[in-house]
Amino acid sequence: MGYVVAVVNGPNLGRLERREPEIYGGESWEAIWRRLTKVFAELELEYYQSNHEGAILDFVETLEDRGCKGLVINPGALTHQSYALRDCLKVLSIPVIEVHLSNVYAREAFRATSLTAPVATGQISGLGPLGYELAIRAILARGTGEKP
Ligand code: DQA
Repeated sequence: MGYVVAVVNGPNLGRLERREPEIYGGESWEAIWRRLTKVFAELELEYYQSNHEGAILDFVETLEDRGCKGLVINPGALTHQSYALRDCLKVLSIPVIEVHLSNVYAREAFRATSLTAPVATGQISGLGPLGYELAIRAILARGTGEKP
C-alpha cells in the first residue's frame, strides 16, 4: 500500500465552480483534484465529499484503521457549527490540516469561529485551491509524526 492521504470536503463543496465563484473561485473540484493527483502522483490520495455530517464522521472514523497517514479537510460550514466533527477529529492521532478556500476571517463574523481548528494540526485559509496542495505538503513534511 502507498502513502495514503485523505482529502475530505464537507457540505456544498461538491458545487465548486457554480457556487459563488467570486468567493470560491471558478475552478471545478474535478479540475482541482486532477491537479492534486498529478502533483502528488507518488501518493495514494483518497477523496470523499458529503453534504451529511454523519457520513463525514463515518468516513473519518475509518482512516487510521485503513493506514491513512494524514487528513486534509475542508469542513465547509461544519467548521462553524459541528461539535460532533470536532470530537471526531480530536481523537485522530494522524496530522489533520483544515483548509478553507476563502479567508474565513475576512467574511461574516460567524465564519471567524472554527470549532475544528483547535483540534487540527494547522489551518490554511484564503489561498484558494492552493491550500489543498500546501496542506498535503504539510502532512508530508511531518512524516508519520503525530498531531501536536
Ligand atoms: C469554506 C468557508 C466556510 O465558511 C463555508 O461555509 C464553506 C466553504 C471555504 O472553503 O472557504 O462552505 O470552508
